[in-house]
Amino acid sequence: MQNQLIIFDTTMRDGEQSPGAAMTREEKVRIAKQLERLRVDVIEAGFAAASPGDFEAIRAVAESVRESTVCSLARANENDIRRAADAVSPAARRRIHTFIATSPIHMQRKLRMTEEQVLEAAVRAVRLCRQFTDDVEFSAEDAVRSEEDFLCRVFEAAIDAGATTINVPDTVGYSVPDRWGSLFKRLLERVPNAGKAIWSTHCHNDLGMAVANSLAAVLNGARQVECTINGLGERAGNASLEEIVMAVKTRADIFPVRTVIDATQIVPASKLVSTITGYPVQPNKAVVGANAFAHESGIHQDGVLKHRETYEIMRAEDVGWGANRLSLGKLSGRNAFKSRLVELGITLHSEEALNAAFARFKELADKSGRYSTKTCRRFCRTKASPPKTSASSSCRWWRTRKRASSRSRSSWCRMRASRRNPRRGARGRWMRLSRPSRAWCTVAPSCCFTRSTTSRPGPIPRARSPCGLPRTGGW
Ligand code: KIV
Ligand code: ZN
Repeated sequence: MQNQLIIFDTTMRDGEQSPGAAMTREEKVRIAKQLERLRVDVIEAGFAAASPGDFEAIRAVAESVRESTVCSLARANENDIRRAADAVSPAARRRIHTFIATSPIHMQRKLRMTEEQVLEAAVRAVRLCRQFTDDVEFSAEDAVRSEEDFLCRVFEAAIDAGATTINVPDTVGYSVPDRWGSLFKRLLERVPNAGKAIWSTHCHNDLGMAVANSLAAVLNGARQVECTINGLGERAGNASLEEIVMAVKTRADIFPVRTVIDATQIVPASKLVSTITGYPVQPNKAVVGANAFAHESGIHQDGVLKHRETYEIMRAEDVGWGANRLSLGKLSGRNAFKSRLVELGITLHSEEALNAAFARFKELADKSGRYSTKTCRRFCRTKASPPKTSASSSCRWWRTRKRASSRSRSSWCRMRASRRNPRRGARGRWMRLSRPSRAWCTVAPSCCFTRSTTSRPGPIPRARSPCGLPRTGGW
């Protein structure tokens, strides 16, 4: 069995089906170029028949991508297939991905077609696709809830009609790894011409098992995984590309496959998709979350400083991060604190000075959150005292803000963003607010309003509040 695992990225098709994640033509081209740098094998750029805009976007991607195969989705009907063929025609390598549902619930309630009609439509669709390209993928939508005997018949017929890739989707994210793996095993054994096609898995994440299910399929013969950057996708999303790629790479002892992905392009791809779609990446998201390589507890920090592999199974720089990160907080140890000082070029000439700075740091860390460069510098000044936390009495604006919430400033920012406009709050504004709010603990006398222009047009001078009065106190 061949051991290349084909990475089929559907960020711009299934990912775009996430509410509010629609992408313009230019945005799709930017993402496609990044996916090409990432060296994904197949880019599903959209669904050509869905709208004239998506058709144009797929065409633009097809014109600008040279290395990866460019693909368009098409339902199993003539119009969709012709639109898809037209959209991908400029591509150096092109694929048409046609699909029809095969589960009883979809056939009866949605398509209102019999099994025989579905089978016939699948064969007709694949044959038509083959008139435009040799690279044809067939999907049995809702395969997870389809009758297995019927699924085998449809797949056999699709391969006979010329499908080169057979995709088995868990459209509703219903499966579990053990079941999904054994389904692949049986399909590969039972479909007589199975060996003439590449078998593909397409998993949704409704029960949080999209990646696990995809990997189970790989262990049972799948050689294409359909996935998206950051796990973007319909409802709870699709299997996340970065997790699949890093799982097979990191656990090469388990997975008998390799990808051609340039993993150092993963984080840039994640950031680009997040910026374009407005979907933030949760900080604790595997591989691409801001904390995926951050160590907070003193024990972990000490271990990583002594020998990275004590707490890390991948290297941050291998997936495109600058390096691992020791975040400083109340759980941090003296060793991590000292190492941050070295990074900052701060030399303390005696152990006592270091101990004193560390004690001051711990004292404040217990009261608040996290610290960065600027705070570290302050703690190292012999007479430095922790940043003031009282509100200024010279400016009513700041006092009102102070009163607005007894919570931390960052949660206040969150509140404000969502109260004004919940949707934007969850997407654009929150993103912008979260960055300064994270910086807050580092520089007590400045805040999100002085450090960003999210709430008012134009920059606000650092030392002044919007009312113009000097701001003298902390929050
Ligand atoms: O989830 C699904 O079934 C799909 C198909 C169109 C492949 O996205
Ligand atoms: Zn899907």
